[in-house]
Amino acid sequence: MCQIITVTSGKGGVGKSTTTANISSALAKDGKKVIAIDFDIGLRNLDMILGLENRIVYDVVDVMEGNCNLAQAIIKDKRTPNLHFIPASQTKDKNILNKEKVQKLLDDLKKEFDYILIDSPAGIESGFEHSIFLADRAIVVTTPEISAVRDADRVIGIIDAKSQKAINGGEVEKHIVVNRLKPELVEKGDMLSVEDVLHILSLPLIGIVPDTEDIVSSTNLGEPIVHNEKSLAGEAFRRIAKRIEGEEIPLLDLESNKGFFAKLKGIFK
Ligand SMILES: Nc1ncnc2c1ncn2[C@@H]1O[C@H](COP(=O)(O)OP(=O)(O)OP(=O)(O)O)[C@@H](O)[C@H]1O
Ligand SMILES: [Mg+2]
Repeated sequence: MCQIITVTSGKGGVGKSTTTANISSALAKDGKKVIAIDFDIGLRNLDMILGLENRIVYDVVDVMEGNCNLAQAIIKDKRTPNLHFIPASQTKDKNILNKEKVQKLLDDLKKEFDYILIDSPAGIESGFEHSIFLADRAIVVTTPEISAVRDADRVIGIIDAKSQKAINGGEVEKHIVVNRLKPELVEKGDMLSVEDVLHILSLPLIGIVPDTEDIVSSTNLGEPIVHNEKSLAGEAFRRIAKRIEGEEIPLLDLESNKGFFAKLKGIFK
């Protein structure tokens, strides 16, 4: 059965697209048939993180407007044959998506894929609502900063009020990714801890991604960090993918921050 997973946040720039690219790549590396769709109309950048920007001819709006068929818009990843991608359009009109057309697109994709990952735009405007409406589960990305956590909290409220699952009396399964954690700052008391974040959001954690420089270079190279076996951030994303697949995987153990992560493990066992 296909699962629609929306990666969302509220606050911009906290790592939604990075998370979408990496989880999609990791799921595909695990043998799942995956499609990532960029719903950030007007500001696309998932294509760059995946290194596929030069392959774009048609985009998600072209499919919905009937300018091309679905197969024409789907781009195959260069590294992982199981990974597919539909880019966002560059149009200035952020309100171009429409509920029926989004539904039709996702219904068609559901027949072919194990996982559909939707990279949602920042904010809570209409593009965001389309990205969460049909979700089976939401990965809510936040950084350990109070403004990001507060915006994540609002987004969670909207998912619980406006998703199709909520309208039908059900619930979208929701998990938190804490991104860009700097354990040394947490230890000094200069950054919210994962525990603080979860206390505010009251949702289960699906992964902690450290703030690392190699993510920046991987974005510039167009090669998601999960392909780098030596990267801690890559390992964090690979583990998140395994947890999505239903495996019980312990939290990342960072050698240099043993004390901190051992403490975390104790809390979230
Ligand atoms: N764990 C991390 N460590 C270091 N840099 C990171 C990490 N996660 C994301 N970044 C960097 O933060 C920036 C924003 O990331 P990204 O584009 O994924 O955020 P976003 O939430 O999709 O933004 P937007 O709201 O604009 O769509 C990028 O430059 C990215 O490389
Ligand atoms: Mg983005």
